[in-house]
Amino acid sequence: MTWLLTGGAGYIGRHVVQQLVAAGERVVVLDDLSTAAPGARLPDGVPLIVGSTLDRAAVDAALRGHEVRGVLHFAAKKQVGESVARPFHYYRENLTGLQNVLEAAVEAGVRRFLLSSSAAVYGMPDVDLVTESAPCTPMNPYGETKLAGEWLVSSAGRAHGLSTVSLRYFNVAGAASPELSDAGAHNLIPMVFERLTAGRAPQVFGADYPTPDGTCVRDFIHVSDIASAHVAAARRLAADPAGRTRLTLNIGRGEGVSVREMLDVIGAVTGYDTTPEITARRPGDPARVVASAELIHRELDWTARHGVEEMVASAWEGWCARHPGARRPGARRPA
Ligand code: WQD
Repeated sequence: MTWLLTGGAGYIGRHVVQQLVAAGERVVVLDDLSTAAPGARLPDGVPLIVGSTLDRAAVDAALRGHEVRGVLHFAAKKQVGESVARPFHYYRENLTGLQNVLEAAVEAGVRRFLLSSSAAVYGMPDVDLVTESAPCTPMNPYGETKLAGEWLVSSAGRAHGLSTVSLRYFNVAGAASPELSDAGAHNLIPMVFERLTAGRAPQVFGADYPTPDGTCVRDFIHVSDIASAHVAAARRLAADPAGRTRLTLNIGRGEGVSVREMLDVIGAVTGYDTTPEITARRPGDPARVVASAELIHRELDWTARHGVEEMVASAWEGWCARHPGARRPGARRPA
């Protein structure tokens, strides 16, 4: 069967495209190329329709021109700070875009739908390991659009006989190869690379949190593991033509890594001195967000396989490929 991946030219989408193709699935991509890395290529034989999820004609062309039987919906804006400044933009892109794709999918007879969601739906979780049944109180418009998107997907699934899965990503990092790495510098690891290679100390946004070393703790997960979870979820959806599957699952490792621990790994991988400058807390940052990865293991027989060193080393290779001169002379090349 053929899968439509909206946003399939982006950082996570391209990893999923690659793994689905390797698993023998047919794939078509709809992407407006707004954040795709310049020069990034899709695998041979994967059709690309350049267009927005807000453009119903483009969505229909992608769905009907390729006999699509399932949709994996990645297309979305994902910067928390920007979402606070531009809520209309985020609701339009993330929710109106989703509704457009869902309506078009239902009308085209598609019965399988996967939504790319986020741990941002939980807001400030007050537990050691966040289970999917934890209260959802998002702290910003980005998280709100993801939570409302999950509701819309489930409700549409129930009303129209779609099988649905929403996957809540924790802190995604790394790359399967340098060409597939994240071109943005909006998260901890690339932000640290940016500072180090500009000759500046990395910043730690607050070292007075109630955590073992005072810095925030997150559940970092390799993007290749994120992709393999999607392949498992797609198989699950494909196996249910009756439209009864209704899953909301965390994708994490279930292991907390602090910002300071991450800086140590980055120092070891890159050879740079990562002694940080401690700054004030960044507003809205929860002290600890770590997934319970039990449910996804039970439901999809999936477990993360890659560790933090692999995330940092692969992200660094991608960074160096895009920033010639970033590598320190004499620093060891990560394996
Ligand atoms: C991680 C930790 C920072 C940069 C965000 C979204 C979330 C999801 C993933 C999309 C925090 C600290 C960072 C730096 C630092 N997004 N930090 N110095 O905020 O956990 O999650 O991205 O789906 O919804 O909220 O990720 O990488 O921005 O920060 O100390 O230079 O690193 O304060 O504690 P975050 P992040």
